Amino acid sequence: MPTVWQRRFTKKIDRRILTFTSSVKDDERLIPYDIAASIAHVRMLRKQNIIKARDAVQLVRGLQRILREYKKQKLKLHEELEDVHMNIEQRLRAIIGKQAGQLHTARSRNDLIATDLRLYSRDLIISMVKSISEVQTAILENARDTVGLVVPGYTHMQHAQPIFWSFFMLSHFFKLQRDIECFGDTLKRVDESPLGSVACAGTCHPIDPACTARFLQCSRFFDNALAAVADRDYLAESMFFCTQITLHIATLAEDIIILSTREFNIIELEEKIATGSSIMPHKKNPDVCELLRAKTGNAIGNLVSVLTILKGLPSSYNRDLQEIKSVFFRQADATIECLKIAVLVVESIQLTKSDWADKENMICATDIVDYAVKQGYSFRTAYSSITQCVRKSRGDVDVFITLCAEDLGIEQKIIRHMLKPKHSVMSKRSPGSTSLKETQRALKRAQLLLRKNETRIEKWRKYTRIF
Ligand code: ARG
Repeated sequence: MPTVWQRRFTKKIDRRILTFTSSVKDDERLIPYDIAASIAHVRMLRKQNIIKARDAVQLVRGLQRILREYKKQKLKLHEELEDVHMNIEQRLRAIIGKQAGQLHTARSRNDLIATDLRLYSRDLIISMVKSISEVQTAILENARDTVGLVVPGYTHMQHAQPIFWSFFMLSHFFKLQRDIECFGDTLKRVDESPLGSVACAGTCHPIDPACTARFLQCSRFFDNALAAVADRDYLAESMFFCTQITLHIATLAEDIIILSTREFNIIELEEKIATGSSIMPHKKNPDVCELLRAKTGNAIGNLVSVLTILKGLPSSYNRDLQEIKSVFFRQADATIECLKIAVLVVESIQLTKSDWADKENMICATDIVDYAVKQGYSFRTAYSSITQCVRKSRGDVDVFITLCAEDLGIEQKIIRHMLKPKHSVMSKRSPGSTSLKETQRALKRAQLLLRKNETRIEKWRKYTRIF
């Protein structure tokens, strides 16, 4: 089955070149979007009186039939037809005959692929936001179930200050919320129809790209045909945000790996997500978290790959752009998978029991400084004497208490009380802090954000009307 442009040449194209240039294998998932774009185009052509009503009906019916065939996995794709666009046009010809030839009036594969990718990206962003909020839901559930539990908070991987576990989990929740906001912003830029830019210069036919955009539920159409056929900025941007998500998930995974070691012993992973060793009988490994951590490496590689393809391209459509598709799809799938797996991981976190928070601990040394400040010492004076007490006590809490009491003239009983991690977290009061009140406020805020995300997804439901 020769492709349409073959007549331009006297010699048949080399089979290997055909295979090399064909994008059929990557294109498949674009079929529903390609058909939606074609139907919108036909309806616009009809509205503008560029094609006859009878022909428009036939074209739309034919396209709808192809969509049904695709859904039933009955649509056969031919590599030699180069891409999904030519496959659909060819199939349409087989179904309705030569009227199929009108489909490509005032359009090109250049504006068509640009449209398909935007429609696909719009749906992808919605799935992404849904998947992120599933992880957030699991995190919030965990944070709610564990209110009141105190754990060490770290900076530089060293004991810093005690925090509530819920506060720690919520830190991951709010990070993911940033990803949702990022994708929400990207969607605003994706939501533009390039259909009608044609090859690169527009057309002499009286088309109405604004009308095509409306049929595709896009909020606007392109400003410049030449720029529109080449624009893949939204793909690069989406790839960056996919990378950012995997970075966020990797930090969560890394935290879980560390906190579940025997040395930290703060959490344990349920057996259904743990892995064992083929030689060491005692092992319970967090391989799943390690793989989540590694996925960021692939994501960064994919992002760089897309940016490098885009770098230095001349204006307008160039075939290099085709090469972005497979990388983009690969990253899209991988990111969604990461998020689905992250839900399982979060659901399987169990906290180990410990009376750590009720025992005096140097991790609360800052609390003594703050207490001294309240007693009238300047911060730097209090900090200096307590720092010296830390040095002299060589890590012995009892010695530390005695030294502090002597230096600052504070009762030992008070210092002892303040060195309890539980007291430390309870004493916090600043907004956004780990205090119980603030953590409870953050839990409510997180719930509110989840609802806000749902409303947002609901609003985006209009995009499904194009099918
Ligand atoms: N298959 C191409 C792509 O995915 C679209 C077709 C444009 N081809 C062309 N020769 N102008 O980017």
